[in-house]
Amino acid sequence: MTEHRIATSVLVIGTGGAGLRAAIELAERGVGVLLVGKRARSDAHTVLAAGGINAALATMDPEDSWQQHAADTVQESYLLAHPETVRIVTENAARGIEDLQRYGMPFAREADGRVSQRFFGAHTYRRTAFAGDYTGLEIQRTLVNRVTQLEVPILDRVYVTRILVRDNAVFGAYGFDLTDGSRYVIHADAVVLAAGGHTRIWRRTSSRRDENTGDSFRLAVLAGGRIRDPELVQFHPSGLIEPENAAGTLVSEAARGEGGVLRNARGERFMARYDPDRMELSTRDRVALAAYTEIKEGRGTPNGGVWLQVSHLPRETIMRRLPRVYQTLLELQMLDITRDPIEIAPTAHYSMGGVWVRPEDHGTGVDGLYAIGEASSGLHGANRLGGNSLIELLVYGRIAGEAAAVYSRELTAQRRSAGAVAEASAEVDDLLAADGPENVRVLQRSLRDTMTEHAGVVRDEAGLLAGLSELDALEERITRVGVHPDLAGFLDLAHAFDLKASALAARATLEAAVERRETRGCHNRADYPDLDETLRVNLVWSGPGRLEREAVPPVPAEIAGLMREVSTEGKLVE
Ligand code: FUM
Repeated sequence: MTEHRIATSVLVIGTGGAGLRAAIELAERGVGVLLVGKRARSDAHTVLAAGGINAALATMDPEDSWQQHAADTVQESYLLAHPETVRIVTENAARGIEDLQRYGMPFAREADGRVSQRFFGAHTYRRTAFAGDYTGLEIQRTLVNRVTQLEVPILDRVYVTRILVRDNAVFGAYGFDLTDGSRYVIHADAVVLAAGGHTRIWRRTSSRRDENTGDSFRLAVLAGGRIRDPELVQFHPSGLIEPENAAGTLVSEAARGEGGVLRNARGERFMARYDPDRMELSTRDRVALAAYTEIKEGRGTPNGGVWLQVSHLPRETIMRRLPRVYQTLLELQMLDITRDPIEIAPTAHYSMGGVWVRPEDHGTGVDGLYAIGEASSGLHGANRLGGNSLIELLVYGRIAGEAAAVYSRELTAQRRSAGAVAEASAEVDDLLAADGPENVRVLQRSLRDTMTEHAGVVRDEAGLLAGLSELDALEERITRVGVHPDLAGFLDLAHAFDLKASALAARATLEAAVERRETRGCHNRADYPDLDETLRVNLVWSGPGRLEREAVPPVPAEIAGLMREVSTEGKLVE
């Protein structure tokens, strides 16, 4: 078996936007950095982000300010966002956009050259900058170009199985090559974890196969990190229903931002019942719950969805501002959205919880380990404003990159552990030798069924507990998998690790969802339909059965004064 031993100052795990931005910061500071990803850099999950990126640039609405952006973010988080994290992101958002422009990002512009900004749900002003509805793809391309200019080395298709730790300090990571199975021991002073969230553990999701499988959760917890609010998962209102193998594919909120409307099977604009003021531009949790309620109460379409209609918009608007939605529907359903409505239903879209991090630098509490992007937590609370995740990865990619650079520079000795490397190596050996009767793909499907059945848009105690006992049974079956790499490569081994990560993420999610006995934002408990003031806390999970409550700091007066009252109107109306 070939084993590569390499060393770098800072290892970044994940080649999506967050990882790339951190690597750029490190390289620009002259610090050695290595990027590792399990899929090709050109195809990281960031390319799926569609409608836009937020910053109070005030190019369209001069009254906008970072303080108002902060107020909207805290407000819509149902007061679970960390106010300092929110301040850092919103105050630094304009700089994030400037960085992108410096790297060559082609933002949509008005005739006079201003960056265009569109409305996204629950923002007070137009502050979502965009590139058609391919914003994430353009950001990814832009960052990959910059990383290439800086000659940052990238190992695509290397799967990281463990972060290596000694005495609560990282010293690298262990992994294997997805093509030839050769092993990697990568020594590093610091590690930046940017390996995404856990939304692929639901059946209908806007993530593709084998991405967002909860890898960050497992890597962080095994390294001594903790997970904050794993139960807070955003269901986006508009996922495709068909075809089955692409179920959940996103129809960007930009479609509603540009004037698209939602109707039930009776043709009613049902948002009038849930949020008559904001209608289709209400918050994501409300629109998703409204669509869910219409379907559940029998006013859904034949395939169990609702209609999203954009055909009344000028064709020119659709082709210029929603080109991806147009193409996606033609490709997947032969449907022309300039003529026909789109059948949609809620889809698991974003992990608002994630690895616990400090607001100031996204350190995890494990020395030298940072987490950023969807892997991390703190900005979104119980409901994420669309467009906030792309700006978060720009802001905290830079900040965590800088922090890791300083940490590495100031480290006087890197203490390693042969035992930790041996343990990581044995784990891969054991899985490779596994020849049991259980099939990894089948178990992945069962896990997704369990989460969909018991931890979807609306939850209750009985369902969540049933989910936990199904998970017990699944975990027992996972010990009997067979893993069979073949001539095509070591994907089967990767799927087995994905499955372990997903099982851990599912347990964290279910346990925290049981504990949050209230309805708040995305977390709808049919048995606890009201928001409980005493649960204005973050739930921090550090392993099976280990859940702690953490107080959320008060919102500064400057921001609190700009917040509008949160009404519970439209929540759990059934
Ligand atoms: O609907 C969308 O375009 C998604 C944007 C986001 O999740 O930020």
